[in-house]
Amino acid sequence: MNSSLLVNKATNTQSAIRLPVIGANWKLHKDLAETESFFEKFRSLVDDFGYCEVVICPPFLDIATAVSAAEQTTIHIGAQNLYWENDGAFTGEVSGKMIKASGCSHVIVGHSERRRYFGETDETVLKKLVAALEAGLTPIVCIGESERKNVESVLEKQFRCGIAPLSAEQFAKLIIAYEPIWAIGAGKTATPAIAAAAHRLIRGHVTKRLGAQAANQVRIIYGGSVKPDNAQSLMAQEEIDGFLVGGASLDAVSFAALVNLCKSEEKSESRINQSCNYV
Ligand code: 13P
Repeated sequence: MNSSLLVNKATNTQSAIRLPVIGANWKLHKDLAETESFFEKFRSLVDDFGYCEVVICPPFLDIATAVSAAEQTTIHIGAQNLYWENDGAFTGEVSGKMIKASGCSHVIVGHSERRRYFGETDETVLKKLVAALEAGLTPIVCIGESERKNVESVLEKQFRCGIAPLSAEQFAKLIIAYEPIWAIGAGKTATPAIAAAAHRLIRGHVTKRLGAQAANQVRIIYGGSVKPDNAQSLMAQEEIDGFLVGGASLDAVSFAALVNLCKSEEKSESRINQSCNYV
């Protein structure tokens, strides 16, 4: 379940407690042996995976190993990309149907590295989102500006062309990752205030397109040089529903520290302190 609906008795409005997502995007890293040893160590460092949705996205060839290494846990495995056709003469591509059959539940769509190095556009992102949803996968769709200028217009266009054409039903299954390109792999994290402002902007677009309930429920996670030492202040922002982590997810100790952060009293208390009743 993505989120729990709450009713604020005073205002009689609904809001949502959104289950945090802690995602690992391994990019082009780790072979089979490294995947196995990561999971062995990582599993021993987290005693309860229930405080967040943990999603690990290894390279395609490691997926089967990751799926079996995650057995008997609630760790989800995701792919980093998909093609929008189910099958056919498309050399080198992998479809949503195949990804689902391999045991994945999630897939990253439209990462900035795919947009920059492999020619992906908002239009292909949309096709991939539809294909992922049809295959029964949860897409983690990435948007973000390349430089710290024109943030509003870049996010508006990426949302309008790549995401907004989805139906409300399709949209309800998405996770959005805000990844400012200038912060990826650069050691330059967006400050909590900058990240929260961008998340608010994105949530505002969701409100305009699909209404307040959809906006309250969608998880918007942050990506860009997230590490155990900067994660807490980012996570403390009400708008930030988790992380998509590159570099720090390759190390079992630092990724486990990010997952364990979700257990912290402060986070759960502050969310629950919106003091409403479950419906
Ligand atoms: P880094 O955490 O290495 O900056 O990468 C972020 C990212 O691109 C996750 O998708």
